[in-house]
Amino acid sequence: MAPLLEVSEVTVSFGGVMANAHVTLAVTEGEVAALIGPNGAGKTTLFNVISGAQVATSGRVRFADQDVTSLAPVVRGRLGMARTFQNLSVVGSLTVAENVGVGFGRFRSAGMIASMLCLPRAVRQDRQLSSLTRAALRFVGLQDVENRRASELPYGDRRRLELARALAAAPRLLLLDEPSAGMDPAETADLATLLRRLPAEMGTTVLVVEHDMSFVRSLADRTTVLNFGEVIASGPTTDVLADAAVAEAYLGTRKERGSGAAG
Ligand SMILES: Nc1ncnc2c1ncn2[C@@H]1O[C@H](COP(=O)(O)OP(=O)(O)OP(=O)(O)O)[C@@H](O)[C@H]1O
Ligand SMILES: [Mg+2]
Repeated sequence: MAPLLEVSEVTVSFGGVMANAHVTLAVTEGEVAALIGPNGAGKTTLFNVISGAQVATSGRVRFADQDVTSLAPVVRGRLGMARTFQNLSVVGSLTVAENVGVGFGRFRSAGMIASMLCLPRAVRQDRQLSSLTRAALRFVGLQDVENRRASELPYGDRRRLELARALAAAPRLLLLDEPSAGMDPAETADLATLLRRLPAEMGTTVLVVEHDMSFVRSLADRTTVLNFGEVIASGPTTDVLADAAVAEAYLGTRKERGSGAAG
């Protein structure tokens, strides 16, 4: 069976900086995979290439049995790819449920006029979308606060709201860029438990960028490590985290690293 996601020889150069250098990576349907590496290693750049926000200098991306290298982000979304961003992107002035609604771009086919006239198709679609919204909020444990303004939620809940928004579109692949950034240890452990349930309960495969090693250990089946844009290790998480080159990459840069929430 072909992997759900296949990144082949992806290179991205920004002037003199090789943000990604011949990166090859595969994610199998049904797994939780991690992408780790020190600050500036190229993790977000690779996510941008996978989701279509960044055009690679060279290399290919295959997703769900298609070459998606030159497809727009919205088209990749329709094929079942969703992502969250490194910096929290919840809209504070909207309610919790409205924030989740923002994730429905690929589903909303009945136009604005049809919605205003309450045409049957628009009504049916709205009903379907609110049931998907509730399912996503239930999954992350925010079902009781759906009418609260997002700005009133504690930080950890806002991050889980972001997760619900990405999940509402029922993606086959979910790309999470440092979802635990800024969370306390208890929130981080809860998040790991939640993410582990995704493949079985929502049919969603996960690729997560992460700084917190204990989080990665408790979460990911397989891990790939980037350092200065290159893959330096890839395989079962326990093997990768025991790898000397990986320890070196981390120890060598840990002192300069910030909180992990920035960047
Ligand atoms: N749009 C851009 N233009 C120029 N250089 C960029 C751009 N985006 C990223 N870079 C550079 O590419 C390299 C990789 O950055 P990237 O953000 O992908 O790293 P990262 O692994 O996500 O880091 P962090 O852990 O801090 O989030 C860095 O040297 C960064 O400065
Ligand atoms: Mg990043």
